[in-house]
Amino acid sequence: MAVGRRDKAASFRGSRIVVAIVIGVLLGCVIAFLFPYGLFNPAASVQNRRIGKTNFQIGSSSCESSERSKMLKSEIVSLSEKNSELKMQVRDLTERLQLAEQGKDQAQKQFLVLGEQHKAGPFGTVKALRTNPTVVPDDSVNPRLAKILEKVAVRKELIVALANSNVKEMLEVWFSSIKRVGIPNYLVIALDDHIEEFCKSNDVPVYKRDPDSGIDAVGRSGGNHAVSGLKFRILREFLQLGYSVLLSDVDIIYLQNPFNHLYRDSDVESMTDGHNNMTAYGYNDVFDEPAMGWARYAHTMRIWVYNSGFFFIRPTIPSIELLDRVADRLAKQPNSWDQAVFNEELFFPSHPGYEGLHAAKRTMDFYMFMNSKVLFKTVRKDAKLKKLKPVIVHVNYHPDKLRRMKAVVEFFVNGKQDALDPYPDGSE
Ligand SMILES: *[C@@H]1O[C@H](CO)[C@@H](O)[C@H](O)[C@H]1NC(C)=O
Repeated sequence: MAVGRRDKAASFRGSRIVVAIVIGVLLGCVIAFLFPYGLFNPAASVQNRRIGKTNFQIGSSSCESSERSKMLKSEIVSLSEKNSELKMQVRDLTERLQLAEQGKDQAQKQFLVLGEQHKAGPFGTVKALRTNPTVVPDDSVNPRLAKILEKVAVRKELIVALANSNVKEMLEVWFSSIKRVGIPNYLVIALDDHIEEFCKSNDVPVYKRDPDSGIDAVGRSGGNHAVSGLKFRILREFLQLGYSVLLSDVDIIYLQNPFNHLYRDSDVESMTDGHNNMTAYGYNDVFDEPAMGWARYAHTMRIWVYNSGFFFIRPTIPSIELLDRVADRLAKQPNSWDQAVFNEELFFPSHPGYEGLHAAKRTMDFYMFMNSKVLFKTVRKDAKLKKLKPVIVHVNYHPDKLRRMKAVVEFFVNGKQDALDPYPDGSE
């Protein structure tokens, strides 16, 4: 609330400045019209007198009149010079005003984020902000959902999954694994009536949104990617209500409670599509162009994308901005892939013509939040890694999801050591 008021006060002050400037400019125009030679210009009265004098002496001598016209011409020249000078001043002032407005805006935002200004501490003691403050919860956004979340969430956190009838079987394996671990705070957003009924009959916390024609059409019949894009629009309300959401696809098996394994220091904490330290956490990829000789090596920054099917998002302004930016782009670019857009918005820096997001991000441990490439390519073949107990396994890298999900349960839950053996590393 306080933030909103401060913002309003600032913009009110800003608009008053603009109004004052506009009035000043108008007044200047009127005065320029009435007093073309200036208000306080001592030369003006002399000129006026001189002009008056010529009025009386017109025609008295041709020599004098040509002198007069020369004088008038030079006056015109000097006036038009002055005019262009004034025009330049106006342009300069307008530019400065724009810059001041921009600066004010930036400074205001920074002040809101950082609060008091501080001196930098000694070497090795400074630490930048990565944990942004949470927004003030606004129940008016969706009172019905607010009531549900009050019941379901634990410490204002919960797992959220979207599901329609196309994924019913996977959903069942999904919530069974959650129940087995004993995680209480999870919620299914049912995208059709059948899934709502299915959840209710299985005692699974479910929420069906109020009708919304755009969202509902995609939700009912949409394929994997289309439904995946919906979540960015739907999640916004959860964050506005002040909840942190662990967004989860349904091709995921829970083996431990993920809320015991989060850091909660970033706007977005996500599992990775990477498969080792380098690809998961980032590395310096050297690009070689021999023709450049001495400078043949160009260093590039690389990281495997975050998996937009499993991420923890805190209710902060950068998080909500992320959801908005992704939802906006998915709406405007119907053929885009939500995971690519999600990553581009998260990682691309500001540059000319583009303002980056600058959200704080954290990559989850790729052994604890394991994708199916790590499991099938590495872990199951390594005697030591095989003993790991991940928090979740996401069958994101393989199309035969349901079979592999069941195999994962057999392997990690029922201890069937050869349960994963029949499956190839990749898809056939
Ligand atoms: C990967 O990183 C972890 C944690 O930083 C480290 O303990 C491990 O030795 C690394 N593994 C390899 C293969 O470098």
